[in-house]
Amino acid sequence: MHDKIIILDCGGQYAHLIASRIRRQQVLAEIHQPDEIDMSVISAASVKGIILSGGPQSVYEAGSITVDPAIFSLGKPILGICYGHQLLNQTLGGKVVAGAGKKKEFGRAELTHDNACPLFKDIETKSVFWMSHGDEVTALAPGFRVCGTTDVCGNAAVWDPARNIFGVQFHPEVTHSEFGHILLKNFVDICEPSSDWTMDQFLAEKSAELTAQIGDKNVFLFVSGGVDSTVCFAFLTKILGADRVRGLFVDTGMMRQGEVEYVETSIRGIGADLTVLRAAKTFLGNLAGQYEPEAKRKIIGNTFLEVQRKFFAENQLGDEWILAQGTIYPDTIESGGTKNSSTIKTHHNRVPEIQKLIDEGQVIEPVADLYKDEVRALGALLGLPKELVWRHPFPGPGLGVRILCSDVAKTNHVLETKNYDGMDYQVLPIKSVGVQGDFRTYRHPAVLRTDSHDLSQAEKISTAIINHDAEINRCLICLASQKSLANNTKFMAGSLDTATLTKTDLTVDRVATLQRADAIVTKMLLAADHYKTVWQFPVVMTPIAFDGFGSESVILRPIDSIDAMSASVGNLPFELLQSMAKAILTDQKISAVLLDTTSKPPGTIEWE
Ligand code: XMP
Repeated sequence: MHDKIIILDCGGQYAHLIASRIRRQQVLAEIHQPDEIDMSVISAASVKGIILSGGPQSVYEAGSITVDPAIFSLGKPILGICYGHQLLNQTLGGKVVAGAGKKKEFGRAELTHDNACPLFKDIETKSVFWMSHGDEVTALAPGFRVCGTTDVCGNAAVWDPARNIFGVQFHPEVTHSEFGHILLKNFVDICEPSSDWTMDQFLAEKSAELTAQIGDKNVFLFVSGGVDSTVCFAFLTKILGADRVRGLFVDTGMMRQGEVEYVETSIRGIGADLTVLRAAKTFLGNLAGQYEPEAKRKIIGNTFLEVQRKFFAENQLGDEWILAQGTIYPDTIESGGTKNSSTIKTHHNRVPEIQKLIDEGQVIEPVADLYKDEVRALGALLGLPKELVWRHPFPGPGLGVRILCSDVAKTNHVLETKNYDGMDYQVLPIKSVGVQGDFRTYRHPAVLRTDSHDLSQAEKISTAIINHDAEINRCLICLASQKSLANNTKFMAGSLDTATLTKTDLTVDRVATLQRADAIVTKMLLAADHYKTVWQFPVVMTPIAFDGFGSESVILRPIDSIDAMSASVGNLPFELLQSMAKAILTDQKISAVLLDTTSKPPGTIEWE
């Protein structure tokens, strides 16, 4: 049993961030729900410390999240962050009120500490921490004293030295907090756990656990070519041997260029037994005549099931087989549908049929305790090639959510120009998916008429325009067009005049066109050593031709994100993006290459 630190999730967005920061100290961190955890779990000797996370509620509101006050008498070090800080102070006899006017703090704050509290060991007396609060602690609980303040917040950091209980109003877990990682390390040191959460140990312990669980059965799993399922496959093959583990890879016909061969070669390279099921015809056949994103998604999902059922019917896998899945820790937590999380989603690894098998003990999930970076470390330890371990995430429906279709044709649609706050923009005659609040949107993208190369400025303007104009949910800037190349001119703002929309569904030819553009982007990203600068880089295609050139337009969507729940535009050099655009335009079918300058929200990562 590993020593661990328990994080009680009070509903904030950052519980996973706290856990992964603690795990980087080689100490196991587990997230639990305050109203679901049993005191016997939390009082176990292996629990060396407790963190109460932030959360969106106010502690003084009826029905807000509370913790069992008994946790404060366990003698274990406790750290409350933001809501957690307010909660522990209120629970132990202090007072929390709504901060009025300038008492609300969001973003950067300069904190001064008194050099007495061990939480601030090795942290400069004045440094920047990130704040996000409207409420504040106005009276400390008995036994507590202040150890850190900002201009606005008198009780920004407090502690009770006798009980080793700490509260901070700011967020040490976010990277904008200059010394946040040191503060969390200091808390871990105060907890004195053994630092035994290493991949070597995990590999040894999990191997023994899985061997016992699987017994003399064989294992079957679907492999997507992504990191999680591939690492799972490699792990199981190492433990059981290739003759007891069978992987199935479905070629949907909407994979990247060379993807099927790449996955086959790299997986067989580690000695595993992979079957490739070539189902491109089935998928593209089922998608013929479909134009709407939701209809496409549903068909792709159902076709996966159809192909899988057919495989099982033709290959009788009896009771001696057990199913494995590459579920990772955030999937397990988020799809638990906890009351406190504001972003509940149903993960495909937790649909009812699979949940039933899990409840019957028929499913194993070898990496369900790990975060993505830990899965990658395990993959490296198992000897998987570096490029495979560090691949960007690729969606299950593949290029199917990156090729837009249109059931109408429009010839020489003159692009209307609108203006907001000094910026001209042109609304395109197609729609893509977005997300605003809790709602999915299906609206038009707009092209900004700007020559600016400043991506963060473009993202800001995009947000302002989308907030202002209910017709659109994305903004783009044009990187280069066939017209600009034909005229041998630099792309000039406002040089797009007409758009021609082709009626088309998802065809083999269109997949091939996008595969070529996508391959150019990946190759140039790697060559420029910027693959790791972005979290993901979708390349999208839409059947619009500008000013009579070509028939399709390509959109580059470089993404900066941690968990895909929110995202901003990936910070790549503008010149690199322009070179990619020019290289893509060697295909005369492509009319123009545009850059998506929309954050998520209001845009989604995929266009669908
Ligand atoms: P959105 O477009 O919702 O995407 O911002 C968020 C992340 O999820 C990926 N994605 C999928 N992954 N099956 C998957 O395995 C899917 O159906 C799917 N749809 C979107 C997307 O690539 C991004 O990383």
